[in-house]
Amino acid sequence: MSEIARGLEGINVTATKLCRIDGQKGELVYAGYDIFDLAENSTFEEVCFLLWNNRLPTATEYAELDARLKSMRRMDPIVLNLLREMWPHVRPMRTLEIAVELAGALDPASSDLTLPTLRLTAERITAKMSTWIATYHRLRSGLEPIEPRDDLNHASNFLYMLTGEMPSDLHRRVFDVALILHVEHEMNASTFSAMVTGSTMSDMYSAIASAVGTLKGPLHGGANEAVYHTVEAIKEERNIPTYVEALLARGERVMGIGHRVYKTTDPRAIILERLGHQVAEGSPDRWYFDLSLKLRDYLGRKLAGKPLYPNVDFFSASVYKMLGIPADLYTPIFAMARIGGWTAHLLEQYADNRLVRPNALYQGEENREYVDIAAR
Ligand code: ACO
Repeated sequence: MSEIARGLEGINVTATKLCRIDGQKGELVYAGYDIFDLAENSTFEEVCFLLWNNRLPTATEYAELDARLKSMRRMDPIVLNLLREMWPHVRPMRTLEIAVELAGALDPASSDLTLPTLRLTAERITAKMSTWIATYHRLRSGLEPIEPRDDLNHASNFLYMLTGEMPSDLHRRVFDVALILHVEHEMNASTFSAMVTGSTMSDMYSAIASAVGTLKGPLHGGANEAVYHTVEAIKEERNIPTYVEALLARGERVMGIGHRVYKTTDPRAIILERLGHQVAEGSPDRWYFDLSLKLRDYLGRKLAGKPLYPNVDFFSASVYKMLGIPADLYTPIFAMARIGGWTAHLLEQYADNRLVRPNALYQGEENREYVDIAAR
């Protein structure tokens, strides 16, 4: 075969029951449930159950999952010691990669790839990731980590562990919805990384570490932090045209805009924009959101005719800012949500595995004669 599928665009690498995207219509569906419906009615825990089991839980199953996740939130002292040692040297996404790998090293069942153990591993990493991120942030802020609270759900507990304060009902709900919006997205770059690693029958922890490393890049999950810096650099509405013109003239991209699949506004950006309007009421940081709206409107005119629209990262930046979350935690929070989808895809992969091993088209030289180093 002489064709190259650069960036694997348009290639189906597997079948999945987890997620369907229609990039032309702007549809996003998790296991048959529309994202607007889930964002309105569900919780992060419930959507994780949906992805891991391909159905919504009964009330009892929900309570059981909730209790298991709560029981798994606490950190192993060895991971805590490592975070204490390394926080001055390591940025948040690298911290997550290392913490996942260490958790794998400490789990005696890490190489048990049977379905019941894999499900527990998925729950364990999901529960602990939020604690790792919050603990890292506390330590670097010169504060002691805060113990998880068993009376709080996943979203509320994270905000509480991060700040030491109980979030308002609005902030709890907005953050829960943000987690739902980020939890799954069919075959994106980080999910593919997890899949490739899992397909060698390497364990779930290593597969997730691969995914975290892939999410970090600014063309993928790193875009939300980049959007924050863009808005901060623009500062005022009157600077938008000059800033954007200069950026495009340098051949750079506007972060949070464009998507490999969506050729219309990402439905997650629509939901985040609505939430942004609610959080902006009374927020001292509402100017980030207001300026994002102006930037979106300007780009809509500037890029008219091109299929470039806001993606999920465009509004998550200002929404997180208004929730009081530091910018360099936006991508770790993306990982903390996407862990549900990554692990769900891995459950599918391990249950019906085939090694991912594509080809590369050789375009190099042939028939070269080896010359001894002394003679070159
Ligand atoms: N700003 C300006 N121009 C853009 C942008 C952008 N954000 N995105 C794409 N384009 C232009 C490209 O320059 C190219 O123009 P050309 O045909 O004149 O050369 C055209 O649109 C097509 O771009 P491609 O790179 O071929 O499209 P691709 O599908 O590879 O890009 C991507 C998708 C990587 C997301 C791109 O839109 C981008 O870089 N966006 C900014 C980063 C970002 O927001 N990433 C987050 C994506 S969502 C997520 O991962 C969670």
